Amino acid sequence: MTIIVTGGAGFIGANYIFYHLNQHPEDRIICIDKLTYAGNLSTLAPVMEKENFRFVKADICDRTAMEKVFSEEKPDAVINFAAESHVDRSIEDPSIFLQTNIIGTSVLMDCCRKDGLRFHQVSTDEVYGDLPLDRPDMLFTEETPIHTSSPYSSSKASADLLCSAYHRTYGLPVTISRCSNNYGPYQFPEKLIPLMVINALNGKPLPVYGEGLNVRDWLYVEDHCRAIDLILRNGRIGEVYNVGGHNEMRNIDIVKLIVKELGKGEITFVTDRKGHDLRYAIDPTKIKNELGWEPETKFADGIKKTISWYLEHKDWWEEIISGEYEKYYERMYGER
Ligand SMILES: NC(=O)c1ccc[n+]([C@@H]2O[C@H](COP(=O)([O-])OP(=O)(O)OC[C@H]3O[C@@H](n4cnc5c(N)ncnc54)[C@H](O)[C@@H]3O)[C@@H](O)[C@H]2O)c1
Repeated sequence: MTIIVTGGAGFIGANYIFYHLNQHPEDRIICIDKLTYAGNLSTLAPVMEKENFRFVKADICDRTAMEKVFSEEKPDAVINFAAESHVDRSIEDPSIFLQTNIIGTSVLMDCCRKDGLRFHQVSTDEVYGDLPLDRPDMLFTEETPIHTSSPYSSSKASADLLCSAYHRTYGLPVTISRCSNNYGPYQFPEKLIPLMVINALNGKPLPVYGEGLNVRDWLYVEDHCRAIDLILRNGRIGEVYNVGGHNEMRNIDIVKLIVKELGKGEITFVTDRKGHDLRYAIDPTKIKNELGWEPETKFADGIKKTISWYLEHKDWWEEIISGEYEKYYERMYGER
């Protein structure tokens, strides 16, 4: 199979490319990435020289550029990871989120439409909005209504609706996965776990929103990659699959765990995020029953592996935090 993977210089996309080429060395992957602030070519160094891998620097909203890659490569399938992905940045300025996450997805599906190519959309549990903290019995299923809170989740939900429309209207063979919070190697330092690890290592305060009581369902990134690969190969066309780890944790408990593991780090509570979702929790019964998927990495192991990775890859994140990230960090949390 020849597969176009968009957003492969980012966190999950890169982990997916490593996973896929390892599991299916007979396949060819073409990674399309605009290399925004969140994309890093150095992340793809382990696969860059492989004969069955090609990197194309391009914007998924650029129809001419996309048509050129599709006609050159004649792919069998597309997996769309490319997105603006950070909620706080979407609160600062929604416009680029609408452009990439909605328009970009439609451009890719238009390219697929001509030859009826298989299209997989990597979505998020955030499209369901949030759940109350005091109702542990409530979980998101695939039937939970879309009810978004942030410009980010609204743009992802809009893309999901377009995917369903392209399936219904044009018969495009589409699937959608909605995953909970991922963690693991190569995650951009603005996200909770790398932010806390890096700040602790650098002797900076660990900024926790509100009282840190918001709950997220955490999944090791490789488990997400395996779910996407299974859906691509065996998922039912036109279906949505929820992907989650049954691993709900409060932000404050994650941060305390990181401090304990590293033996350092000073927590500081900062003004809460606007419209901050209280709790996300996924019911992954459908993907378990239909595709036999279950998370393999326990959080206790995954977080240790992740912290070790950041300790061993200082070069990777030091380069990143000295770039555009520094200005972002100052806007969010003041001087470092
Ligand atoms: N991180 C999570 O916990 C999580 C959970 C569920 C779903 N998701 C979804 O998974 C996908 C990947 O998330 P991530 O955390 O790896 O994001 P990321 O921000 O780390 O990476 C996004 C990548 O997309 C690229 N990109 C952005 N705009 C582009 C454009 N217009 N054209 C081409 N490339 C572009 C960036 O350069 C970057 O390499 C996103 O669609 C996100 O919504 C993420």
